[in-house]
Amino acid sequence: MSAAAKKIYLFANWKMYLNYAESRSLARALKKTAHDLPQRAGMAVFPSALAMVGVKEELSGSPVLLGAQNTYWVDRGGYTGEVSSAMYKAVGVRYALVGHSERRTIFHENNHDVRQKIEALLAVGITPVVCIGETKPERQDGSAEEVVEAQLRAAFTDLAWPEGRELIIAYEPVWAVNTGEPCAPEEAGRMCSLLKKNVAGLLGDIPAVFLYGGSVRPENVGDFIRQTDISGVLVGGASAKLETWSGIMAAAVK
Ligand code: PGA
Repeated sequence: MSAAAKKIYLFANWKMYLNYAESRSLARALKKTAHDLPQRAGMAVFPSALAMVGVKEELSGSPVLLGAQNTYWVDRGGYTGEVSSAMYKAVGVRYALVGHSERRTIFHENNHDVRQKIEALLAVGITPVVCIGETKPERQDGSAEEVVEAQLRAAFTDLAWPEGRELIIAYEPVWAVNTGEPCAPEEAGRMCSLLKKNVAGLLGDIPAVFLYGGSVRPENVGDFIRQTDISGVLVGGASAKLETWSGIMAAAVK
C-alpha cells in the first residue's frame, strides 16, 4: 500500500519534557492544527500523568486521542507513586505505552512486568502500545532479532487478544531513542516485517499495526512511513515542541 493511502499513526510521547502549564499550552495549539490532518491520520498525545486531565480538557472536541506513558497493573491500593490502568480508563485514556525502553533501562522493567501491564490494560479496555527493541550491544553482537522475538513472546504468548481491540507494536531500538541516531528506515522496515511475522505466529490472524520510534524528525518521518510494514511513528523529543511536531505531521501525510 502506498504511503499516500494507508492509515497513519502519529503518536507524541511527551516524556517528562513538559510541565502542567506547558502541556496544556501545547495541547491547545494542537487542537487547532489537528483539524488540518487528513482523516486517515490518527494523532495521540502521551502527556505526563500530572497533565493528563488538563490536556484532556484542552483537547475536548478534537480528534486527538489521549495516551498514558506508563501504568500499574493493580486497580487501586497501597502502591505509592503509581497510577493504575483503571484510573487512566476513568479519565478517557485510549492508549498506554508499555515497555518503553526508558522504563526498561532506567526503571528496570522486565518482560514479566510488561506482560502484567498488557493484561491489566486489556482488562480495562485501554489499547497497549507495546514497545520492543534491542540495545546497541545486542545489535552489535548480532542478537537483535533474538531479543525482539523474546520480548514479543513474553508479551503475547497464550494471550487471548480481545476481539476488536487494536494491536499496536512500536519498534524502538534502544540505541536510537533520544540519541539523534535514527535507525535506517529500510532496516526499521525489515525489523517490523520480522515482528509482524512473529506476532502472527503468536496471536494468529489479528491485524497488527507497527510503528517506528527513535529520533524521528520532520526530515526522516516520510522515509519511515513509506516502509510497507510501518504505519506510523512514536516520537519523543521532537513531539514536545510545536514547531518540530507540526513539521512531522506535515511531512507524514505528504
Ligand atoms: P525520541 O524518543 O523521539 O526522543 O528519540 C522516542 C520515544 O521515546 O518514543
